[in-house]
Amino acid sequence: MLPYEGMKVLGIETSCDETAAAVVEDGYVLLSNTVASSMDLHVAYGGVVPEIAARSHLEVINQVIQQALEDANTNWKDINAIAVTYGPGLGGSLLIGVINARTLAIAFNKPLYAINHVEAHAYANFLTTTPFASYQLRTVQPEFPMLALLVSGKHSEHILFRSHFDYSLLGQTQDDAIGEAFDKVAKMLGLPYPGGPSVGKKALDGDPNRYDLPKAHMGKYDFSFSGLKTAVLRLAQAEIGEDFTFPSKDLPSRLSERQKADIAASFQRIAIETLVDKTVAAYEEFAPKSVIIGGGVAASPELRHQLAARLPCSIEYPDLKLCTDNGAMVATLGCFMATHNRPTTDPYTLDIQPSLIM
Ligand code: KG4
Ligand code: ZN
Repeated sequence: MLPYEGMKVLGIETSCDETAAAVVEDGYVLLSNTVASSMDLHVAYGGVVPEIAARSHLEVINQVIQQALEDANTNWKDINAIAVTYGPGLGGSLLIGVINARTLAIAFNKPLYAINHVEAHAYANFLTTTPFASYQLRTVQPEFPMLALLVSGKHSEHILFRSHFDYSLLGQTQDDAIGEAFDKVAKMLGLPYPGGPSVGKKALDGDPNRYDLPKAHMGKYDFSFSGLKTAVLRLAQAEIGEDFTFPSKDLPSRLSERQKADIAASFQRIAIETLVDKTVAAYEEFAPKSVIIGGGVAASPELRHQLAARLPCSIEYPDLKLCTDNGAMVATLGCFMATHNRPTTDPYTLDIQPSLIM
């Protein structure tokens, strides 16, 4: 087992369009967090283009890792272990991070930890200390049992962590992830990618109660967002007096700014309520000592607002920069793997798992 005090882990994350690396010490000190996003290159396509993402990871990864070490005022000699996301995510993107981590682990003779991206999102909540004034971290680490709501462009799930590495999936989306629903609704309304922030911004000018949109009734803790997305499409078509054959790509030029704002606000209210209904139900059933949120959609002010209004406990949030994909969450989980005697992985054979589940 590695020494706990002063243990520095380098985390590498390339599962989607962010090339990210970070150094975390002892599972709570954020020493650096470097992120290079290829988002600008994907905006024109309204979503992440896998080939473009993989190519840009390749172009910047060495530089990103070097920057993370420099910002942390550290060098290879002081790094105790490397942690890398090996799934779930885009195959070509994951491959760049994994190959780099494997090479570095072999070259510098460091233990290597294989990290589940979704699990890592929860661990952004364990960071409480940093020398950087630009980060607003939680003041304390969450306590177990811990109820986690993990919501991103690919995931929507509730997980109950009884302790580190002892958890159960309570429920998940049966079709689209909530972030994906935000991204698709943004496209229908002519709002830029990523849809979460742009729908949220547009919703500020709209009436969240203007339209009644349906909430899917799934199993106890499961979600479905595909019906809601279709309901938004039908609503938008009806608003301009067209039927279901009207192409969604032509909606933005026909909808008024008021209609767009009201649709954005009504969709956002229902989509977030769907999440929060189940968070409240899980809180009542399992009486966790803490509730945490993670993943890109955890940056949503509406989600934070509804949770604050409906949960009897208070929630501390990770910094916004630690909600979307980053290397710090990967390094943090790597620290806990090291201190909890979790197995390291073989740097000669570690493979990617694009469809990895929790
Ligand atoms: O975790 P993440 O960065 O990447 C994935 O693992 O998917 O999450 C990206 C998702 C996108 O769908 C984006 O629209 C959503 O998170 N998102 C937000 C916000 N910021 C990002 N959704 C709602 N409100 C936000 N402020
Ligand atoms: Zn993510």
